[in-house]
Amino acid sequence: MAPRFTGKRVLLTGGASGIGRATADLFAAEGAIVTIGDIDIEGAQRAASETAGHAFAYDSRDPESAVLLAAKAAEAMGGIDILLNIAGIMTWGRIEETSPDAWKRTLDINLSGPFFLTQAAFPYLRESKGNIVNVASAGGLHAVYGTAAYGISKAGVISLTKAASLEFSNYGIRVNAVAPGGVATPMHEKSTAGGGVDPEIFSTAAARNMPKLTDRDACTPPEIAAAIAYLASDDARYATGTILVLDGGQTTG
Ligand SMILES: NC(=O)c1ccc[n+]([C@@H]2O[C@H](COP(=O)([O-])OP(=O)(O)OC[C@H]3O[C@@H](n4cnc5c(N)ncnc54)[C@H](O)[C@@H]3O)[C@@H](O)[C@H]2O)c1
Repeated sequence: MAPRFTGKRVLLTGGASGIGRATADLFAAEGAIVTIGDIDIEGAQRAASETAGHAFAYDSRDPESAVLLAAKAAEAMGGIDILLNIAGIMTWGRIEETSPDAWKRTLDINLSGPFFLTQAAFPYLRESKGNIVNVASAGGLHAVYGTAAYGISKAGVISLTKAASLEFSNYGIRVNAVAPGGVATPMHEKSTAGGGVDPEIFSTAAARNMPKLTDRDACTPPEIAAAIAYLASDDARYATGTILVLDGGQTTG
C-alpha cells in the first residue's frame, strides 16, 4: 500500500506508551512527521528518537500546556495537519467511593485535555484543512461496572467529537473518534484484579462486559492505530462525527 501520510504534520498525545506509541510508529512509517506531547517526557523522547520526530512535555490537566504544545508542534513541523488526542488514564471505583480528587483528575486528563488541545490546535488545523481523531472508549458508550468517572469522561470525548465535527465542518476540518474495548497496553495490565483493582469490582465488570468475539486474542495497540490512521486518512474523506467502535462486540448487547 502507498504511504498515506507523506509529509503530513501530526501532533499526538500519549505517544510514550501503548496505543499512542503504536500510532506514532504507524504514522511515521507512512511518511508523517510526528510530534509527541506526553507527561512522560523520557518515554516521549525515546519514541521521538525512534520515529525521527519531536517530543515536548505536556500535561493534559493544564490548558496552558495545550497552548504551548500546539505552538511548539506547529513551530517544529511548520504547521499541524492532524491532531490525535490519545493520552488518558483509567480510573476504577464505584460511585460511592470515588473521591473528588479522582473525579477531577479523570475528567481533567481524559476530557478537558482533548477539549483544550482541540481549541489550541484549531487555528493551525483551519490553516491546513486538517483533521482530528480522538480516542474515546467502549466505556463511553455503555456503563462498565465500577468505572463511572472514566466512562463519563469518555462519553464526554464522544460528545466533544460530535460538537467539534459540527462546528469545524464549516472549515473543512473532519473530527472523528475510535472507541476501543480492552486493548493490551500498560493501562490495561493495571486494569485487572492482579493489577490492583478491587477483585470484586473487577469480576463484576468482567462478567458483565465480555467481548462477544471470544475466539481471539486481546486487541493490540497496532490494531487501534490502524483504525486511527484510517479515520485520519483521505480514505475517510466523508467521515466526520464518526465513532468507530473496536470492542469485539462488547457494547452490542
Ligand atoms: N487500553 C485499553 O484497554 C483502552 C481501552 C479504551 C480506550 N483506551 C484509551 O486509549 C488511550 C491510550 O491508552 P493506553 O491503553 O495506550 O494507555 P497507556 O497507559 O499505555 O498510555 C497512556 C499515555 O498517556 C500519557 N498520559 C497520562 N496522563 C497524562 C497527562 N496528564 N498528560 C499527558 N499525557 C498523559 C501517559 O504518560 C502514557 O504515555 C487512553 O485515552 C485510554 O483511555 C484504552
